[in-house]
Amino acid sequence: MRVNRSMHRKLSAVATSAAALFFGLMLLATPGYGQSIAGRWTAIGKTMDNGEVPKTILDLKQTGNVLTGRLVGLGYGVDVKGTAKGNHFDLYVIDWNDKKPSVVGDLVNGELRWKQWNETYVAKPATPADEFPKLPYITPPALHNVPYNGLAKTPPMGWNSWNLFAGKIDDKTVRTMADAMVTSGMKDAGYIYVNIDDTWEGVRDAEGNLQSNHKFPDMKALADYVHSKGLKIGIYSGPGPRTCAGYPASYGHEVQDAKTFAAWGIDYLKYDWCSAGNIYKNDALQPVYQKMGDALEESGRPIVYSLCEYGMGEVQKWGPEVGGNLWRTTGDISDTWTSMIANIEKQVPTAPYAGPGHWNDPDMLEIGNGHMTANEYRTHMSLWALTASPLLAGNDIRTMTAVTKSILMNKEVIAVDQDPLGKQASPVKDGELETWIKPLADGSVAVGVVNHGATAAQATVKASDLNLDGAVKTARDLWAHKDVQFAGGAYTASVPSHGVLMLRVSAK
Ligand code: GLA
Repeated sequence: MRVNRSMHRKLSAVATSAAALFFGLMLLATPGYGQSIAGRWTAIGKTMDNGEVPKTILDLKQTGNVLTGRLVGLGYGVDVKGTAKGNHFDLYVIDWNDKKPSVVGDLVNGELRWKQWNETYVAKPATPADEFPKLPYITPPALHNVPYNGLAKTPPMGWNSWNLFAGKIDDKTVRTMADAMVTSGMKDAGYIYVNIDDTWEGVRDAEGNLQSNHKFPDMKALADYVHSKGLKIGIYSGPGPRTCAGYPASYGHEVQDAKTFAAWGIDYLKYDWCSAGNIYKNDALQPVYQKMGDALEESGRPIVYSLCEYGMGEVQKWGPEVGGNLWRTTGDISDTWTSMIANIEKQVPTAPYAGPGHWNDPDMLEIGNGHMTANEYRTHMSLWALTASPLLAGNDIRTMTAVTKSILMNKEVIAVDQDPLGKQASPVKDGELETWIKPLADGSVAVGVVNHGATAAQATVKASDLNLDGAVKTARDLWAHKDVQFAGGAYTASVPSHGVLMLRVSAK
């Protein structure tokens, strides 16, 4: 057959359409093609220690390449925003100061896969059943003053499981830590509380009593063991329905849980806001914390009450009114110089509010966890002591090096932290050097000069800056453990990069 021009055009048009159709069908058959990142996605997580299977729901809308939505898991719910580039996306949490993307992922084969705070999630399109139960709103109580429980006259000292073990903590580990508290000398140095952080929780029984999970077969027996060593034991919960790690918390069960803790023999409760933020606005912080303050009082057992809400709502101004003995002033510390310094700087505005029975808490210690230098850890310890902060070791006290021991158990520095006057030092910055001065009960003064610079620097402490009652009579270097001389009303020493000069100076 002869093919004329018009037929040729027609045939080639048909061929082109056929090819287009073929490739179109191929593309549609390609998993993920034509599917968008926007939508409602559900990721099923690893079974938790209490047998629950957690869900994470990511609900996203897309306009152009801008994504907005909400990320909800057990214990948290945050609004997110970010960008889609093809099948790749990243999201940050709108309410956080840090606008770095914390959720980063891709659409792959019809699944949304992402990394979120170091965990990997693989999500499929959500079904209508993928909902978190709507809990009844419980109106916070009217404000009143919870009486002081008489505890924590000096900043609490002890050990907490979170910084090192996070979710990998169990009965046996806590027992060996209690043993090590005694054998290492930590107990003699003043460290008394052995505190279990998140992930001990089981599920509630038919009567609503919170049980521990398989990692903690018998809490009462564990508390008895810790007490038998002359130590005290702490536990963790929160005012929301879930803890930060997604385990059941005390929402609507405050009185019942306080009674359970008291019956087990618990001496210290860290009470972490987390999922309460899905129910309450920040104006409810005080009444919601007051509720557990009342419940602890009603339990009849003296229990140190540690508020953990990262410094929101100027907690330092009302912490004592809800019966709080200490309250976090910051987000979570990590084992780096930058994090440690950022936390202590956030402690600065809270200085007037520290005192016997109620302390500002810039989070637990990282000393001995291995990612800072010995000089940096000495600075960490000095700054916590100068600011009358709680000293909760967060390292493996069973296997401490001699250097770690010498830092955590420096009794002269601990005495500054534990000084009965309970004053919190404030800093004065001069270039790379920052000087913190803390008045002590016996009229002497503790002073720390931190070198933020990258090289060693000469630090001068002037007697006239110390507000002493007379001329300097004695001065002691609390890290060198030796007396030093003020000459001409000043003392000068070289301070290594990120190191500290710490003195106790007296006019007596
Ligand atoms: C929050 C707290 C931490 C720790 C974890 C446990 O992040 O700030 O100190 O208790 O929760 O999930």
